[in-house]
Amino acid sequence: MKEAHVIVDRDFVIGDTDPRLFGAFVEHLGRCVYGGIYEPGHPTADERGFRGDVLALVRELAPTIIRYPGGNFVSGYNWEDGVGPVEKRPRRLDLAWMSTEPNTFGTNEFMDWCRAADVEPMLAVNLGTRGPDDARRLLEYCNFPGGTELSDLRRAHGWEKPHGVKFWCLGNEMDGPWQMEMKTATEYGRIATEAAKLMKWIDPTIELAACGSSSRNMPTFGSWEDTVLEHCFDHVEFISLHTYLNNYADDTPSFLASADLMDSFIEEVVAIADAVAARRRSAKRIMLSFDEWNVWYRTRRKNEGRTKLGWPVAPPILEEVYDMQDALAFGGACLSLLNHADRVKSACLAQLVNAIAPIMTETGGPAWRQSIFYPFRDMSRFGRGRVLQTRVSSPVYTTVYYDPRGTSELSFPMPDVPYLKLAVVDNLDEGTVTLFALNRNLTETLTVETQVRGFGALSLGEAHELHHGDLKATNTKDRPDEIKPASLEGVEITGDRVRVRLAPASWNVIRLSARGN
Ligand code: AHR
Repeated sequence: MKEAHVIVDRDFVIGDTDPRLFGAFVEHLGRCVYGGIYEPGHPTADERGFRGDVLALVRELAPTIIRYPGGNFVSGYNWEDGVGPVEKRPRRLDLAWMSTEPNTFGTNEFMDWCRAADVEPMLAVNLGTRGPDDARRLLEYCNFPGGTELSDLRRAHGWEKPHGVKFWCLGNEMDGPWQMEMKTATEYGRIATEAAKLMKWIDPTIELAACGSSSRNMPTFGSWEDTVLEHCFDHVEFISLHTYLNNYADDTPSFLASADLMDSFIEEVVAIADAVAARRRSAKRIMLSFDEWNVWYRTRRKNEGRTKLGWPVAPPILEEVYDMQDALAFGGACLSLLNHADRVKSACLAQLVNAIAPIMTETGGPAWRQSIFYPFRDMSRFGRGRVLQTRVSSPVYTTVYYDPRGTSELSFPMPDVPYLKLAVVDNLDEGTVTLFALNRNLTETLTVETQVRGFGALSLGEAHELHHGDLKATNTKDRPDEIKPASLEGVEITGDRVRVRLAPASWNVIRLSARGN
């Protein structure tokens, strides 16, 4: 049996988790909107067409902020198409996903849905086929109280009060050739700066995220961030990051190690942003918005969204069925985000329903939880508070992670991957300390002894694990609970020391009560 040792101390803090770290993403893509969150006529739908069963699962998942309407989709989107009388809205070709967009769901419906789901909206503006003027007009429509053409248009459409959207993305993945009207870093940096200026002149309370690289493997990664921030450093609060972990190589140890490359990505972007600050002798710190992250590979390389499907409305594309090992890699990504809570102040699980999503639906039928639902729910429910530094001493393994880039593959030798990946959060208000622990050893139990200093004597609140004997097991409509959390037995606590045995290939949550200390 393998053994790991951990020390955490109440006084050694990484940072507070921003509530927006627990966000998700709804794009007009496949059945995410149509047949996902919105399905008029579904037995659980309300008078607005919002599926009640999906809303209940979203509330249980507990995302805090939802990015909308894309993604690649936003780079060709005319927001005006999605407001006003539904019968007058145009049907349009969506070149991002080779689909027909009916526009029966748009910005105002999204705002209502956010209210129903108890989440904050995050809007992206189209800096692909459109530009700063369009961004200015959308902001005026959404956030200006009234007395101007566009704010009065919103009121005439039935939304008297401004939507008050605080968080805005300046385009999407503008470095990618798949993007409608991709830009060079200089072109994008200029346009993002001008859009930011106009938007903040209308509403100085908003926060803006500039596009970073679409992935760490982009050939322009690094220089893209540097150039873009050189242009818009004074005008934005965030730079974005996107990562989709993959197991194309069918190599589970390397797949589970790949979340550690998210740690590298975050630290590299922080270094570049701070270098831009240093060149200006600026104390300002650009924060990170990890506004797309997930596991995605089965429905990706086939590029099935772009095949000639005959321009269908809401085709069932990108409907990745997640298995047990995906949930583990996904849990590793959650830990990377938590452990960088000082700089990653916003993050969005991509996406929410049906398209690479924790929630699946059958059109006209039921909704169910995928395996990745559970680590996200744990992170959002129990990750609020101060993330503590961890001193981890764990046995390690060696692997090589492969990641595709275009037609070539990049390989990343990973010589010292700790079997234990861990984050610890002091949930201040509740008097609870939560340990999130991933055992990446596929065959052996890992005994973990943690000293939790500074909280006095601890007692066990609750502990559970996500584990399945078959790493390829999945939840389906007919077997929706094949993978689900179970109680974690055998947690031993002596004073400030916690001893726990983690099953091979398992995600674990241990909640310690530190009340009265
Ligand atoms: O989330 C799916 C797609 O992945 C998004 O539309 C795009 O931004 C990214 O490439």
